[in-house]
Amino acid sequence: MANKDPIRIGVLFSETGATSTIGRSQMQGTLLAIDEINQAGGVEGREIVPVRYDAQSSPAVYAAYAERLLLQDKVNVIFGCYMSSSRKAVLPIVEKSNKLLFYPTLYEGFEFSNNIIYTGAAPNQNSVQLAEFMTANFGSSVYLIGSNYIYPYESNRIMSDLVLQRPNSRKVGERYFNLDATEKDYRLIMTDIRDKRPDFIFSTVVGDSTASLYRAYAESGLDPKTMPIASLTTSEAEISQMGFDVALGHFTAAPYFQSINSTANKRCLEWLGERFGSSCVPNMCWEAAYFQVHIYANAYRHAEDDEISRIMPHILGSEFEAPQGRIRVDPTNHHTSLYPRIGVANSKGQFTIVREATRPVQPDPYMVTHSLGDWTTTLSTLEL
Ligand code: ACM
Repeated sequence: MANKDPIRIGVLFSETGATSTIGRSQMQGTLLAIDEINQAGGVEGREIVPVRYDAQSSPAVYAAYAERLLLQDKVNVIFGCYMSSSRKAVLPIVEKSNKLLFYPTLYEGFEFSNNIIYTGAAPNQNSVQLAEFMTANFGSSVYLIGSNYIYPYESNRIMSDLVLQRPNSRKVGERYFNLDATEKDYRLIMTDIRDKRPDFIFSTVVGDSTASLYRAYAESGLDPKTMPIASLTTSEAEISQMGFDVALGHFTAAPYFQSINSTANKRCLEWLGERFGSSCVPNMCWEAAYFQVHIYANAYRHAEDDEISRIMPHILGSEFEAPQGRIRVDPTNHHTSLYPRIGVANSKGQFTIVREATRPVQPDPYMVTHSLGDWTTTLSTLEL
């Protein structure tokens, strides 16, 4: 008789703490996909059941729960992590037990693990495009601001390298702040920014303190028309915390924005509304969290198992019609082909897409082609 036992999966995001706004949205993206799969009859009649813990935005708590999920709860697969510090904490645990982590977050690249599938953007899918766009439209002098951990250090290094390829380019400042930085902390550097007069600010600030940075900027009287903030991490979720007027005119590069005008996106947002009401703010990390569960479930159908050696051949090379477009897991580097886009924050708390790739860009996590200009685009009329 066919096995009808539920399939248990680990779900590990931050529902509390400094990055919980994004963490909760990733959780909701994951649960939405699970619901959708279960309502359509599960995986060959087997229900997917999440075993879920709150990692509290702490790498140490991530590590402890990852161990519990793999050793006590005995799941084979964990869906989780936002900050790169949390992924770095979970990585040795999944490698040691030879289990699998699906990681739905943009990150700094320069990593490969046989035990991780990376579904967020690598730097060649967001940083390269953002550097090209900002230097072409605003100029090549940049001030870097980040949170105090690995992703901002590395992402700022990559952005510096890209911008400094331009003629007459300059890095005029680089500052790091704790995850609990307040508006008062950021106010202190606004004077420095005004003095140094960069063409744009690159922010790798994450979590709740993103709102404080943008508020300090707005209060300082600086003007996004002449010196905007460009970011890879400021999504609709962070904008919902800071206020729409505060975000207006600033830029973000991401494969997904809520405003994407596709049938797959609209259908997904409708389901989300029915399931979670307005409590969820969809964003790039929500979308990756959503589609990666489908990648897993489809692979499980073929493998009839989620033990890593059985399921991996069916994950690698697989494709899915995601809200951002048809994505594909790269068989050589475990990252995902995605659609780079650039959005400018509008008065509705959404992003107006000003540039987008016409076809998916293959992931190049080690930036082998570490250069500007490898982006095929339709350049829509830029109305800043
Ligand atoms: C990040 O830490 N990967 C946003």
